[in-house]
Amino acid sequence: MSAEAPQEEGAPFRVGLLGHGTVGAAFEELLAQRADEIARFNGRRPVIVGVLTRSRGSFEEILAESELLVELVGGLEPAREYLLRAIRAGRDVVTANKQLLSHHGEELFETAREHGVRLRFEAAVAGVVPVVRVLEESLSATPIERVHGIVNGTTNFILSEMASGSTYEQALAEAQRIGYAEADPSDDVSGRDAAAKMAIVARLAFGVPVHIDQVRYEGIEHLELDDLEYARELGLGLKLVGTAERRGDGISVRVYPTFLYGGHPLASISGPFNAVTVESGTITEITMSGPGAGGRQTASAVLGDVVSVMTGGARPPAAPLAMPLLEDVESAFYIHLDVADEPGVLAGVTRVLGEHDVSIKSVVQRGMDERARLVMVTHQVLESRLAAAMKKLAEFDFVRSAPRSIRVIEEEFM
Ligand SMILES: NC(=O)c1ccc[n+]([C@@H]2O[C@H](COP(=O)([O-])OP(=O)(O)OC[C@H]3O[C@@H](n4cnc5c(N)ncnc54)[C@H](OP(=O)(O)O)[C@@H]3O)[C@@H](O)[C@H]2O)c1
Repeated sequence: MSAEAPQEEGAPFRVGLLGHGTVGAAFEELLAQRADEIARFNGRRPVIVGVLTRSRGSFEEILAESELLVELVGGLEPAREYLLRAIRAGRDVVTANKQLLSHHGEELFETAREHGVRLRFEAAVAGVVPVVRVLEESLSATPIERVHGIVNGTTNFILSEMASGSTYEQALAEAQRIGYAEADPSDDVSGRDAAAKMAIVARLAFGVPVHIDQVRYEGIEHLELDDLEYARELGLGLKLVGTAERRGDGISVRVYPTFLYGGHPLASISGPFNAVTVESGTITEITMSGPGAGGRQTASAVLGDVVSVMTGGARPPAAPLAMPLLEDVESAFYIHLDVADEPGVLAGVTRVLGEHDVSIKSVVQRGMDERARLVMVTHQVLESRLAAAMKKLAEFDFVRSAPRSIRVIEEEFM
């Protein structure tokens, strides 16, 4: 607690809990189990002094009773209002709410700085994987160049199933059956959930405020099974990858289905897991991975934040820096073309690609009756140049269906 009188050694540490759903209920249970151990090394035992849901509890009473508030309500309002009121009343706060931080992070950080309170949010990014703390504290002396993340376990599970031969629809149904995907999975499969998390990652890695609407993202709904099959022949595996990187004087934040070569640390992350790779000249590369969601797992990250506040852990992110967000960056691409099997096709394709500065690294060609598939991986090219080339290719009479492209990460660290 920051605004009130210091607590005596041994007094209970009073926690108010907003939200008692999947994570809130698991948090209450975990706190009860761990309270004695926390008291043993902290001197104070955390206790929950009040719980707020739609049908029970009073925010005012919980605020008055608590030293720290844990927000596990989710969504924008009233979560934002509750957190701002708690911070203004001098309470430290912990949240797992990525939507809120990716929309109103700067307002919350600034208010927390003004009032000298702590605002912790480890569970908002990759569940129990300690990405926030590592970026904020362990790597605070390291100039970070790039962060790649698989930050949505639902889509990673679906892509793992597709890599084993399931269609997108079958894989999604399986994810829903097991409970990895919600009945309405649109936030996950559209890439929006990952975009919210990458906005937060970019703020931590580069100090630049990023609103979710500034993150370019694409989901996995339109992927075709044969893209995965051809890519396998080229030594590539498909993941939904979030990227936050420094390019010259600007930064780029984006989420796209992306192919990785086998030697990339994210290539081996399968099933409902999350992983984040941080790259810097100083450290080469660090990868952290683990469960990205689940009530108990998320609750353990939330409780870690509570303990961090109790032990005087980090302040809210420093005042923001100004750096432009780049719209157009270079990437390597996988291109899939369904073409007529006739003379002149390859020459036409390579001419258009050449005119747009797209150079080819590898090609797989397959004949199928009077049609052929051309699958290529390009070298680095500006996204806008590739998009223009794809538009031009679609105009050829010999192109039988809309050309498809998927980004490729070329780096391998093994
Ligand atoms: N679930 C995960 O695996 C996971 C992983 C990482 C992060 N998170 C984040 O953790 C947070 C909580 O997620 P969850 O899955 O636990 O959500 P949830 O199961 O839907 O629970 C939400 C809780 O908030 C309460 N609530 C909702 N609107 C409220 C309002 N207007 N006033 C007071 N209480 C309200 C609900 O009350 P009722 O009980 O009355 O409905 C419920 O207790 C979210 O920000 C989510 O993004 C979740």
